Amino acid sequence: MPPRWIAPSILSADFARLGEEVNAVLEAGADLIHFDVMDNHYVPNLTVGPVVCEALHRHAPHALIDVHLMIRPVDRIVPEFASAGATYISFHPEATDHIDRTIELIREHGCRPGLVFNPATPLDFLDYTLERLDLVLIMSVNPGFGGQQFIRGALDKLAAARRRIEGTGKPIRLEVDGGVKVENIGEIARAGADTFVAGSAIFGGGDYRGTIAAMRREIERA
Ligand code: DX5
Ligand code: ZN
Repeated sequence: MPPRWIAPSILSADFARLGEEVNAVLEAGADLIHFDVMDNHYVPNLTVGPVVCEALHRHAPHALIDVHLMIRPVDRIVPEFASAGATYISFHPEATDHIDRTIELIREHGCRPGLVFNPATPLDFLDYTLERLDLVLIMSVNPGFGGQQFIRGALDKLAAARRRIEGTGKPIRLEVDGGVKVENIGEIARAGADTFVAGSAIFGGGDYRGTIAAMRREIERA
């Protein structure tokens, strides 16, 4: 299993002070910055795009940026996020007409492709794609908002995805997104996740370093 990573979601950060917030979580021990892109079309919320990604990339050039696209269509915007400094670019299979082509497009532009599974989306979409991915993202809430409750069905799905990843022998990351907190992160780690997105749990409390350290302790104990 690759080293475990904690990825604060900036959706719950103070958008008026985004650069400072990113620095603060990086200093507090974050491994990856999770960047939620919503279009008021694929999901009922609207957030930020490549312009903001580029600004953050300039502000913190060494930060790894984990772009989670909740938009339709996907392909047109991929090159823009690639030149804006994205490290990973993940998309939902329902949001593109040609999943294989979108994976290839992300790779061609020098980024690492990820496929995202909504709570009711079967893992079947991994059948012809898994070996070509760098990341599998299991949603543990319905996408669109921070601060929702963790859906427990995600635990079995994580375990199933972990088995499939092990079968490839490749260092493909298994990420979980939605309702992840200090209280449940141990159980989620035991299910097989290695990359943990947390928005409200980190930005909602004042002590970023304390929360990230507590999460890491729970993961290590799991
Ligand atoms: C939800 C987003 C998440 C969100 C998670 O659609 O994809 O990344 O920020 O927020 P929390 O951790 O508060 O559930
Ligand atoms: Zn997300």
